[in-house]
Amino acid sequence: MNLLSAKNLSHTFEYELFSDVSLDLQAKESIAIIGMSGSGKSTLLNILSTLLTPNSGSVSLFGEDTSSMSKKRLAQIKRDELGLVFQSHYLFKGFSAMENLEVSAILSKKDIDDELLKRLKIYESMNQKVTELSGGQQQRVSIARVLTKQPRILFVDEPTGNLDKETAKEVMNILFEYIEQMNSGMILVTHDEELAHKCHKVFRLQNRELKELK
Ligand SMILES: Nc1ncnc2c1ncn2[C@@H]1O[C@H](COP(=O)(O)OP(=O)(O)O)[C@@H](O)[C@H]1O
Ligand SMILES: [Mg+2]
Repeated sequence: MNLLSAKNLSHTFEYELFSDVSLDLQAKESIAIIGMSGSGKSTLLNILSTLLTPNSGSVSLFGEDTSSMSKKRLAQIKRDELGLVFQSHYLFKGFSAMENLEVSAILSKKDIDDELLKRLKIYESMNQKVTELSGGQQQRVSIARVLTKQPRILFVDEPTGNLDKETAKEVMNILFEYIEQMNSGMILVTHDEELAHKCHKVFRLQNRELKELK
């Protein structure tokens, strides 16, 4: 069974961004989507992660069509199974980094992994308020928060934008290892072609089409 299966997606804002986009994601698989700024990558990721309803087409998660799920079922899947790592971090700003992770750990009944925090180089900063952290540190706290709940699909939008090359590499290694170990899958949107090619499959969004490059 596919973790995610998208069929014939089309979406228009001021102009048509893409049409007839289909995509399947399997366990342990990583998929990169590249394309020029404004080509609709983030919109496509929003649709795949059920934040946005497409003009046409369907998204199935774990074999169930999301358009025929009850609101309750969809909310439960979003909370338990989907991990969103987006540019806007959605961290609770008034809280410390640790409190942000504790919320995730309590809601998902999972433990915070100190080793993960050390590898992300945020272990020493966990008692600081989110607003006192740099953009790059906030990005890594939001990745730690997402991984703490152990989702089955990671949706990742430009994850390494605020990070230096070495840290970016380590963060991506953590995500690749995570999906391998946890039988999860990842859909990654990036500008970085080198990073994209570390994924199992690479697609380019161009001229309103999603073309498979690898
Ligand atoms: N909620 C929205 N309402 C109207 N237009 C939008 C909205 N979101 C994105 N767009 C437009 O859709 C186009 C593609 O945006 P986006 O998906 O963010 O592209 P990318 O991530 O590839 O840079 C842009 O022209 C953007 O202005
Ligand atoms: Mg974008």
